[in-house]
Amino acid sequence: MNNLKISIFCIVAMFGYTSSAQVSSDHNSRSEKKIDSILKLMTLEEKIGQMTMYNGSWDLTGPPGTVSAKDKFEKLKNGKIGAMLNVTSAEATREAQKAVMKHTRLKIPLVFGYDVIHGYKTIFPIPLGESASWDLELMEKTASIAAKEASAAGIHWTFAPMVDVSRDARWGRVMEGAGEDPYFNSVVGVARIKGFQGDDLSSAHTIAACAKHFAGYGFAEAGKDYNSVDVGVYELHNSILPPFKAAAEANVATFMNAFNEIDGIPATAHKYLQREVLKDGWNWEGVMVSDWGSIGEMIAHGYARDKTHAGELAIKAGSDMDMESSAYEIGLKSLIEENKVSMALVDDAVKRVLRLKMKLGLFEDPYKYANPDREKAEIYSESHQEIARDAARKSIVLLKNDTLQTDKSPLLPLKPDQKIAVLGDLADDKDTPLGNWRARAERKSAISLLEGIKNAVDPENITFARGPQFVIDNLEEGKRQFLWPLKFNKNDTTGTAEALEVAKNSDVVIITMGENAYQTGEGRSQVDIQINKVQKEFLKKIRKVNPNTVLVLMNGRPLNLSWESENIPAILETWHLGSQAGNAIADVLLGKYNPSGKLPVSFPRSVGQEPLFYNQKNTGRPYSRNTVTFSGYTDSEKSALYPFGFGLSYTSFKYDNLKLSDTTMTKNGKIVASVEVTNTGKKDGEEVVQLYIRDLIGSLTRPVRELKGFKKILLKTGETKTVSFEITKNQLEFYTANKIWDVEPGNFRIGIGNDSRTKLGAKFQVLE
Ligand code: NOJ
Repeated sequence: MNNLKISIFCIVAMFGYTSSAQVSSDHNSRSEKKIDSILKLMTLEEKIGQMTMYNGSWDLTGPPGTVSAKDKFEKLKNGKIGAMLNVTSAEATREAQKAVMKHTRLKIPLVFGYDVIHGYKTIFPIPLGESASWDLELMEKTASIAAKEASAAGIHWTFAPMVDVSRDARWGRVMEGAGEDPYFNSVVGVARIKGFQGDDLSSAHTIAACAKHFAGYGFAEAGKDYNSVDVGVYELHNSILPPFKAAAEANVATFMNAFNEIDGIPATAHKYLQREVLKDGWNWEGVMVSDWGSIGEMIAHGYARDKTHAGELAIKAGSDMDMESSAYEIGLKSLIEENKVSMALVDDAVKRVLRLKMKLGLFEDPYKYANPDREKAEIYSESHQEIARDAARKSIVLLKNDTLQTDKSPLLPLKPDQKIAVLGDLADDKDTPLGNWRARAERKSAISLLEGIKNAVDPENITFARGPQFVIDNLEEGKRQFLWPLKFNKNDTTGTAEALEVAKNSDVVIITMGENAYQTGEGRSQVDIQINKVQKEFLKKIRKVNPNTVLVLMNGRPLNLSWESENIPAILETWHLGSQAGNAIADVLLGKYNPSGKLPVSFPRSVGQEPLFYNQKNTGRPYSRNTVTFSGYTDSEKSALYPFGFGLSYTSFKYDNLKLSDTTMTKNGKIVASVEVTNTGKKDGEEVVQLYIRDLIGSLTRPVRELKGFKKILLKTGETKTVSFEITKNQLEFYTANKIWDVEPGNFRIGIGNDSRTKLGAKFQVLE
């Protein structure tokens, strides 16, 4: 055997007896030694291969590149590709892995990534919708099921969770995160990471997670996707970075950088963010992958001259893996040869990639995830459907529930003997509830609202009428992402007369409206965030013939519901709820589940208020003193129509006796805040008890209030519970004018209540 063969033989033998479940420092140092020994064997081309990711062309989630599928296969065999995305199924991933294991010199396994955003085949609510459950355990559970299904199909790595704070309803990607609040995005992001990754990345049921998009992507100017971001360093640290910091602390395996520039520097080439803050500052050891083509896009940004230059900027800034730009492949070799980039930077990136593969256990068994038997047995199982139904009903937010009926009861829940009109083609739509990022869901596989309600009440009591046609079936496989011009709605009004007749002859009307599944998501920014005109006209007509109208919304972004909130007595926000949407909506409509969802985003009165978020700054002119010269609008109130944290229940809750254990504390001390919550209504119900804090004076101006804790509790009718929150440094610190995270001495106010309008009553002081 020559030397190289002996070394390779040794590496393979070493992996043979390694248990990846061991996480001791001893194990870590052994792993690091192995990584070093592999690195020593690698040629520069092989190293660049490990830093290169290509789309498998099975499913496009970005603009098509120029490399053909055939060429990619050749590259695989030559060790020029270390990672692939959008190759799904046990069979397909095995085939690609086989090419690498059979033909490449060092047999370093491929890692397969995929956008498993809200489920793989069993689809859960879109992330924004699921966040409305405020149920962290549930979100961890659904992510773990998504991981279980995806891993059975050979996927090792999901590009989720998106932890971008998003405050602009015009931005279509608001659907993919946890909304407008940094703290909320942090805790939701961590729950999802735990769900995907579990305790042991090498288990065949867990996959690597990815905190994205680093950073600022959700702050796109004017809500226009991919647009420039212009925030200062304080805003960056206080509003954008906290969820990423939480993700790094939760050991998320990977990060993805972003398409946008921040203050003139594309995120992909942002050295301060990727090296100073993330890798050095937070000591994070994972893989930073670029977004799709984002290295190459620096040419269009006007930041790089060509792909070689773009690659230079990206590697220097800390981007370890190039997704679909071919920039590292094209330019990195000459950059090294010309001493423009040091080998140390390349080695660091490659070590990160090898570390990920080792943690996933791929060196022990490159095929262990791709399991056709598991794929058949575990994907879309009955137990997964049950959890999908539970997640869906917990995500529904009751926005309004007035009393109109002759018996003086609120419109919802419905009574089983009522004659129910179910209207609107979204009610009969088995596709829209799957949402935009639906991974490998079968098209039209969701339970529709009509099916759900028919499963729940005597079908004799239900009459369905489509009304004007809204849903458009333009979503041929493979083309769905890039159809342009995008046409979401049909405006065919035949069917209106029949629906009016049905409405007239029913006790109550359930009318569905909202957005097409693909109307939110990447590249789906809009300037108009009302429900479309044809739907609204229809709604007005129905409301006239039957005032007992319940509006069921299906949408992916906050909508402007000004007219609806004035004129429609009951409104239910159901987002895009996934595989079990219809059953879950029926559970809530019929009172089998008492709604407990709360909005993770503010719903505006008008699109002109965007970006709109509750944790804004006070400004120097916060109030109207009977003049127009204050910070507001002359043609609208400045508050949200439905605020962050808001959501009704079929019961009512009373908050009493807000108490603090002390009125002063030291920086490292603790105060306990408590409140009594009573269920004063006639139904058992869950309530999300929310803690808000305001730091009154700071070295930088501070938001008017910030969410700093929440607890979801179940209260039986008549029951009272005391809910307490510990207030420590964690809730009070911020990135100060000294550019450190610190608690500044001074006065704070707190409030505990059921939405972000909660009165801030109690006051305490942090001592010098
Ligand atoms: C572009 C998106 O911005 C990113 O979130 C996604 O993971 C990649 N495409 C891969 O599909």
